[in-house]
Amino acid sequence: MKPKKLICVGGARPNFMKLAPIMRALEQAPEFDPVLVHTGQHYDQAMSGQFFRELGLPQPAFNLEVGSASHAQQTAEVMKRFEPVVLEVQPDGVLVVGDVNSTVASALVAKKLQIPVVHLEAGLRSFDRSMPEEINRVVTDAISDILLASEESGRRNLLAEGIPSERIYLVGNVMIDSLRLNLEKAQSSDILNRLHIKGEPYGVVTLHRPANVDDQEQFGEILSALAIISETVPLYFPVHPRTRLSLAGCGIPVRGRIHLADPLAYTEFLCLMSKASVVLTDSGGIQEETTALGIPCLTLRNNTERPVTVDEGTNTLAGTRKETILAAWDEVKRAPKTGRIPKYWDGNAAVRCVTVLRDYLSATA
Ligand code: UD1
Repeated sequence: MKPKKLICVGGARPNFMKLAPIMRALEQAPEFDPVLVHTGQHYDQAMSGQFFRELGLPQPAFNLEVGSASHAQQTAEVMKRFEPVVLEVQPDGVLVVGDVNSTVASALVAKKLQIPVVHLEAGLRSFDRSMPEEINRVVTDAISDILLASEESGRRNLLAEGIPSERIYLVGNVMIDSLRLNLEKAQSSDILNRLHIKGEPYGVVTLHRPANVDDQEQFGEILSALAIISETVPLYFPVHPRTRLSLAGCGIPVRGRIHLADPLAYTEFLCLMSKASVVLTDSGGIQEETTALGIPCLTLRNNTERPVTVDEGTNTLAGTRKETILAAWDEVKRAPKTGRIPKYWDGNAAVRCVTVLRDYLSATA
């Protein structure tokens, strides 16, 4: 039988850790002919190129080079440039991951061309539609044919939205496949030396949500909490380009023992995070990675689309006001959460995905 052509689409940094194990598992399965498409939503070496190299992702067959723009322009540009690729490749399916603009844009294109769409990391809901990612999740899930969930809440949310249960599969967390595969190698990174970390306990910070960093008053509130926390533990803060722009533009002083750094490579960040006493973040993926590593995580948001990290893992919602963050920090100092590993976050999620895809695509042959 001819191998099934499956276009796999990624565009932004958090997509690449999810695509790497999927591409590897698909390449080892003779029934599949995977075609990797990079939308170019992220394009800097630090946000894209070095992730491809480190994660062993193949060169994309197509790079749409859409770059940065407003939400509408970026989404529209992915759609305009992805449509001819789908028409040329004539795939048997299109797999999209996560919740970025590239995800929803490519799902829309494929579905309108009547190509089956597979959404990996389906069903996550923050129930906060002021988040652009929440819109992307809801729309992508509504038009996907196969929904691969990373945690049980994903399945529940999809069922509540009326998606038939036979289209939903709990496969586990492919991002944790990447973490487990790379954790040992990451330990040999020299990042702690380069940041002059000498063995004392430290914390790691990442921030990039528009709601946290684009608003000057809000960003100042978080930075003043971080300055106080850094009196107890020095904080290392690799700065996302969006956040760097915001810091430069607003002139908010970064006080205390907060050490800013450029965005790190995947294994550098994994090494830094795995040896930290605490992580403070507004990222989605880092909430999951800290749970997998058993490191306490304070999420600087009021909600999470990944509730298993709070219910079973090491994550605590710390809010975004100075007092709420400091209260959560006091709690972490008093009684750090240890947590347990959620179901199927075992390094084999990509293999489960491929099993589902094999059954589905052979049934539609
Ligand atoms: C995007 C995703 C977000 C994800 C995040 C991970 C959407 C709606 N948002 O947010 O869900 O958590 O990626 O990083 O899809 N920039 C660079 N170099 C790059 C890419 C971006 O300098 O390689 C700068 C540009 O100034 C750009 C800004 O960062 O305007 C924001 O990039 P964009 O892709 O629009 O959104 P993110 O904030 O990265």
